[in-house]
Amino acid sequence: MNDQYDLEITRPMAYSDIPQVVEIEQQVTFHPWTQNAFSESIKAGDKCWVIEYDNQVVAYLVQSIYTEESHILNLAVKSTRQGQGLGRGLVKKACADARKGGVMKILLEVCPNNLIARQLYESEGFLVFGRRNSYYRSGGRAEDALVMERVLEPASVMTQ
Ligand SMILES: CC(C)(COP(=O)(O)OP(=O)(O)OC[C@H]1O[C@@H](n2cnc3c(N)ncnc32)[C@H](O)[C@@H]1OP(=O)(O)O)[C@@H](O)C(=O)NCCC(=O)NCCS
Repeated sequence: MNDQYDLEITRPMAYSDIPQVVEIEQQVTFHPWTQNAFSESIKAGDKCWVIEYDNQVVAYLVQSIYTEESHILNLAVKSTRQGQGLGRGLVKKACADARKGGVMKILLEVCPNNLIARQLYESEGFLVFGRRNSYYRSGGRAEDALVMERVLEPASVMTQ
């Protein structure tokens, strides 16, 4: 995805990116993570990526990778850059990184009514296999999440 725009790079999230990340998070997600949540993820060694364009963060993904499975914990794209392939690029990267780490299964949670995200994940090979009751809690609201899973192919047959 980096060859699409000269000024666009994908790189690890730094603590100094968090204010920009949280601004996007508050604009485009229904249950935004706090600054502290992103900070804790970086500290815990989660894979945290940002896509930067012209020195501004425009998209990010947070992923944990364990021995047996990986978990996409957060993904968002700035509203003005949605629908341009950045989200798909980050999901593909997360799957490729998980597979490179020897993981065979990747999981995520998504709001049942987030049809755009569901369509993205389904088209990347994720299938719904469960539901977590009252998974999202913020602002006095609680919403269920669908759990989606993709079983990863051997690294040799995965495409970027
Ligand atoms: C969901 C999200 C990450 C997708 O990222 P994106 O960069 O906008 O998506 P992409 O351009 O990579 O598109 C991937 C697919 O998503 C779907 N999609 C994207 N924008 C869409 C739109 N406006 N209408 C319908 N489907 C859309 C399509 O299936 C698209 O595939 P296609 O281009 O082959 O048709 C982004 O819209 C977002 O940040 N949403 C708010 C936060 C969020 O919901 N995060 C996910 C939490 S689980």
